[in-house]
Amino acid sequence: MARQKFVCGNWKLHKTVAEATALVKELAEGLAGDARVQVAVAPVFTSLPAVAQALAGSPIQLAAQDVHWETQGAFTGEVSAPLLADVGVKHVIVGHSERRQFFGETDETVRKKVGAVLAAGLRPIVCVGELLAEREAGRTLDVVGRQVRGGLAGLPSATLAAVTLAYEPVWAIGTGKTATTAQAQEVHAAIRAILRELGGAVADSIRIQYGGSVKPENAAELMSQADVDGALVGGASLKAKDFLAIVKGALR
Ligand code: PGA
Repeated sequence: MARQKFVCGNWKLHKTVAEATALVKELAEGLAGDARVQVAVAPVFTSLPAVAQALAGSPIQLAAQDVHWETQGAFTGEVSAPLLADVGVKHVIVGHSERRQFFGETDETVRKKVGAVLAAGLRPIVCVGELLAEREAGRTLDVVGRQVRGGLAGLPSATLAAVTLAYEPVWAIGTGKTATTAQAQEVHAAIRAILRELGGAVADSIRIQYGGSVKPENAAELMSQADVDGALVGGASLKAKDFLAIVKGALR
């Protein structure tokens, strides 16, 4: 089944409101209404409303970098899925390895967040990936399999269709080291096999992005693999020229 490629920029903790709106204007001009590839950007929370406004009329979609699983209440510092929907967010990155490493995210909190995102009518991008030590110990598929099953546990297969997976080997994030196309395809195929177990035929329509030092130079080759359906891009998404080149790479 042909899946539309999906490229999302994860801006992490970068850019003021003015810088963020300037960047998306450049992206919108660069894409010039071309909707062959699904494109989203994930700015910091404080820029979401301004970026939503700057993107009005553009096919570029808005994503958030995290969410809390409760809808409201005494949860100081948190933001809920309905509040993200309220400012125009369509996708929410859940379980990024930086959240797992630095902020105590677990497969259980990922599962709760995925449920909250879906309940608000938004689409989760669920991140999974092994540490270098885990890869070297030959445990990559075990670790990724546990994260996929844990993060998606209990979801009915109809709901699973709204999910995007992102395979991001932790050793490749922000390091300049990219997984080889063969390493990426091997894990993506394993993820797809698990999705098939969980959701049957729906697995064929779920996009699995690759993330970890995606650059204009390697994007096209990575995304040419059978089960690599797009990219989650950190560093290279902060410059319009590089991000646009990566999006073009999805078309080849
Ligand atoms: P990177 O980050 O492209 O800077 O390696 C990817 C990510 O963390 O999503």
